[in-house]
Amino acid sequence: MTATIIDGKAFAAQVRGQVAQHVTRLKDDHGITPGLAVVLVGADPASEVYVKSKGKMTKEVGMKSVEHRLADTTSEAELLTLIDTLNKDDTIHGILVQLPLPDHLNEDLVISAIDPAKDVDGFHISNVGLLGTGQKSMVPCTPLGCLMMLRDHHGTLSGMDAVVIGRSNIVGKPMAQLLLNDSCTVTVAHSRTKDLAAVVRRADIVIAAVGRPEMVPGDWIKPGATIIDVGINRLDAPERGEGKTRLVGDVDFDSCAKVAGAITPVPGGVGPMTIACLLANTVTACCRAHD
Ligand code: GUN
Repeated sequence: MTATIIDGKAFAAQVRGQVAQHVTRLKDDHGITPGLAVVLVGADPASEVYVKSKGKMTKEVGMKSVEHRLADTTSEAELLTLIDTLNKDDTIHGILVQLPLPDHLNEDLVISAIDPAKDVDGFHISNVGLLGTGQKSMVPCTPLGCLMMLRDHHGTLSGMDAVVIGRSNIVGKPMAQLLLNDSCTVTVAHSRTKDLAAVVRRADIVIAAVGRPEMVPGDWIKPGATIIDVGINRLDAPERGEGKTRLVGDVDFDSCAKVAGAITPVPGGVGPMTIACLLANTVTACCRAHD
């Protein structure tokens, strides 16, 4: 078998197109421009790339984009003051504080300071609780993007066996919750899981979100299963020249694609969907604010 490649790049472009249309309607019919504020503390190179890309795409769909770049010596009090200002700013409908934060800042405390209605990451404890009880909430962007690709490919997910590898608050846990809400039978596997190969072999849907390059081999995959690869790992690629790198996911693409029914590539799979969902969440937050 050779798997269907799920084209996250094309799907994300479609989602951004719908967001742009929605933004135009909000402007033309109601005089409202959705606004997204992104806060970056410090100069983590990977975070820099994401923040730049988020700002560019926010503007491309016609929304207001504000970036706050703070020194890595910023105190918790200073960061909380900025969040308070953004919470009170009626032109800002979404606030995203890029993670990870420098070690001296308490992430839980910072996230809990964001107005839950503007928490476009869906990380605030109120949104986590609402999602966990199947209520209307802000849904974390990466798991939401994965769910959209799965629904698009399968129609319904009801009754499918899903294995989520990884139990992070950003991806693994909310992903499991979303799959459960869509009536999958969900297993969350992690570093202490016994016989991970056997657990993964049962799955109709495999979500790999561990951050370990190419850790899932093709012989763990049930024939015909759908694989969503959340990993973005940079490996040295000396064959491409000195200092060159290549991006790989958490699954070994070549061996998995021979067995799976469908698979997302890295790059061009989950990554673009995450940003598209961030833009969609910002429009949702804006609409709810003006309801
Ligand atoms: N760092 C890595 N992924 C994310 C994300 O989805 N949101 C935020 N705020 N930080 C991240």
